[in-house]
Amino acid sequence: MIRFPRAKIALAAGLILVAVLTFAWFSINNPGEGERLPETVSFNFHIRPLLSDRCFKCHGPDEKQRKAGLRFDTQEGAFAALHDTLAGNAGVHYAIVPGHPEQSTLVQRIYSTNPDSVMPTPDSHLSLSAFEKKLLERWIEQGARWEKHWAFLAPEKPALPAVGNKKMGPQRNRPFILQKQQEHKAQTVRRSR
Ligand code: HEC
Repeated sequence: MIRFPRAKIALAAGLILVAVLTFAWFSINNPGEGERLPETVSFNFHIRPLLSDRCFKCHGPDEKQRKAGLRFDTQEGAFAALHDTLAGNAGVHYAIVPGHPEQSTLVQRIYSTNPDSVMPTPDSHLSLSAFEKKLLERWIEQGARWEKHWAFLAPEKPALPAVGNKKMGPQRNRPFILQKQQEHKAQTVRRSR
């Protein structure tokens, strides 16, 4: 066995400790680091699940539970004009104004620090994290694009795998078969090792 001088071992241990502590310090000070806002917020992937989890209880398909006549389970409902109820304020406003988070009541409500107006309501014991609020805000800022439920979207034609060669002519399924064969071969080789 190779023997390391004690001083070197102590130095190495010290360096590892410093690295671990530095990492821990950064993790504690940047809790949102792992949750970077996506370049483009996706309705189906980011927004629909949020609305459904945190808002549908009172703004969803159940008419009896619905509050403020506002529903987020349909596009028409989410973009509908809301009537101001405050005396002397006869205008309309909107929960979602595409491209304008600052005019969107939804954004004002989720960021509100007033327990009487913040959404979800405190008594619901539902809440949104800072990251989730940002997602909603950015989605509105990016135009609040509403997508059909993924289950109703036509499947997209997959791109041809980059295997095989171009001379294969009309055998259009060959690349898919080749790709599968290559995957399989890789697995077999791995297993037999
Ligand atoms: C536990 C029930 C409950 C939940 C959950 C809830 N809300 Fe509400 N919401 C209400 C009630 C009650 C009102 C009407 C009273 C008020 O205006 O504060 C309301 C009103 C609103 C309004 C104002 C409507 C208007 O006419 O101006 C918006 C916008 C809103 N909610 C958005 C949301 C969003 C977004 C979520 C999810 C993140 C959510 N709410 C979750 C109960 C709820």
